[in-house]
Amino acid sequence: MTVRPALTHAALAAGLALLAGAAGAQTVLKIGYSTTKESHYGVGSTVFCDAIAKGTANRYSCQQFPNNALGGEREMIEAVQLGTQDLVNTSTGPLGNFVPESKIFDIPFLFRNYDHARKVMDGPIGQDVLKKLQTKGLIGLAWTENGFRHMTNSKRPIHAASDASGLKIRTMENKVHMAGYKTFGLLPTPMPFPEVFTALQQGTVDGQENPIPVILSSKFSQVQKHLSLTGHVYSPAVIILSPNVWSKLSDADKKVFTDAAAAAAVAQRKKVNDDEANGIAQLKKEGMLVDEKVDGDSFRKAVAPAYAEFAKEFGADKIAAIQAVK
Ligand code: PAF
Repeated sequence: MTVRPALTHAALAAGLALLAGAAGAQTVLKIGYSTTKESHYGVGSTVFCDAIAKGTANRYSCQQFPNNALGGEREMIEAVQLGTQDLVNTSTGPLGNFVPESKIFDIPFLFRNYDHARKVMDGPIGQDVLKKLQTKGLIGLAWTENGFRHMTNSKRPIHAASDASGLKIRTMENKVHMAGYKTFGLLPTPMPFPEVFTALQQGTVDGQENPIPVILSSKFSQVQKHLSLTGHVYSPAVIILSPNVWSKLSDADKKVFTDAAAAAAVAQRKKVNDDEANGIAQLKKEGMLVDEKVDGDSFRKAVAPAYAEFAKEFGADKIAAIQAVK
C-alpha cells in the first residue's frame, strides 16, 4: 500500500518530465528567401521544412519568410551568420562576399547547361566549396538552384552583345558578374533585389537579369518589354543554416537536416525545369517580346578576354577543372 503513492508520484513525475521535454524541444526555425512561396525557392524551402518536421517528429519545424520579408540576400546571409535568423535559401549572388571560393561559380558562360552545372555543384568541386562555408560561420546544407540568368529590358531587343551596349542593368552585388557584364557593353548597377521592381518601374535602370522562375514570380512582365534568352551565367543557390542551430543537433538530426536539404534541391531544380519549359509561353502571354535564339557566340566572344582576369583570381586550372566535368 505504501508503495503505491510512491509509484504514482514517480510515474507522474516521469510523465511530466516527458511532456515538458516534448514541449521544450519544439523549435521553430525561421527560413527566409527573396521570391514568392509558389516560386522555385518556395517549393524547395517547403520540401525542406516538411522533411525536417517529419524526420524529427515535429521537434523542429519552420516559419517561412518569402518575398524578402527578412531583407535582401546579403542581409539574410549576415543574419544567419550572426544567428538572428536560422536559415536562408539564397543565390550565390552575395555569397562571395562571405566565402570568396564560391565566386568561381559566378563566371559568365562557365557552365554549358543545367546538366553540367548540377554535376559540378553535386560533385567534389561543388561539395568542397559547400564545406568552406563552415569556416565562415555558415553551414551549407545543400546546393539548391536559382537557374540560368537571362536579360530583360524596357528599351530594345537584345539579340547580340552589341545590342546590350549602353544599357543600364541592375545586377546582383557580385563583382564577377559585373566584370563579365561590362564586356557586353552593359552598365552594371548593383542593387539589392527588394529594390529592383521599383527601379524598373521608375526607369532608374533599363533592365535586369534573372532566371525565368524569378522573372515569372516577380511579375517583371509588368515593367519590362524585352526578354532575351541569353543564359549568360548560371546562378546556383544554397540552403544555409546557422551554426547556433547546427551545434545543438544530434548526429541523427544532422542527417535529417542534410537529407531534407538534398530533397529540397531536387524539388527546387524540378521547379526551375518546369518554369523554363512553361514560363516563356506565359511571359509572352503577359506581353513580353522574347528572343529565343540570341547570338550566344557574340556574348562568349565578348567575355573571352575577361577570362584572363578570372584565371588570375581563381586559377586557370580550377576553371579548366569545372569546364572538364562531363
Ligand atoms: O537577382 C537576384 O538578386 C537573385 O537572383 C534573386 C532574385 C534574389 C534570387 O536569388
